[in-house]
Amino acid sequence: MVSFKLNGAAVQVEVPERMPLLWVLRDELGLTGTKYGCGIAQCGACTVFYNGQAVRSCQIPASMLDGAEITTIEGLGTPEQPHPAQAAWIEHQVAQCGYCQSGQIMAAAGFLAMYPNPSDEQIDQVMSGNLCRCGTYPRIREAVKSAAVKLREPS
Ligand code: FES
Ligand code: FES
Repeated sequence: MVSFKLNGAAVQVEVPERMPLLWVLRDELGLTGTKYGCGIAQCGACTVFYNGQAVRSCQIPASMLDGAEITTIEGLGTPEQPHPAQAAWIEHQVAQCGYCQSGQIMAAAGFLAMYPNPSDEQIDQVMSGNLCRCGTYPRIREAVKSAAVKLREPS
């Protein structure tokens, strides 16, 4: 049995200790916004926050979940109050097929929390770790820049 916080709520699940967090989320807890792309840490489709840091959930075993705080795309914002990255993604109509985009948004949100004023090169370097078969990279870069501006605005 592992106990952790998921999108602000306490959860407990009985799963094998080697089960990746990605499967815990999708198969055990029904949160399918986090996507399976490669399963080997190469695509970023499965990105979530683990204790506030963007990580690849296909690489986090259930044994690392006790006491952790996990945030997924479902808990990053709400339709009424989207995270600035989610708002920027809508504004720039980033998604094409959409499959990679929750991972892209989680990676961008994690990156912007550490680098609030990134250069184009930094954005390209960090976001190049998240693959998009539809080639939405130019819109991703514009959306990350917009989200950075929104995050720097005084609230
Ligand atoms: S599914 Fe985790 S990085 Fe691709
Ligand atoms: S929008 Fe289709 S894979 Fe990225």
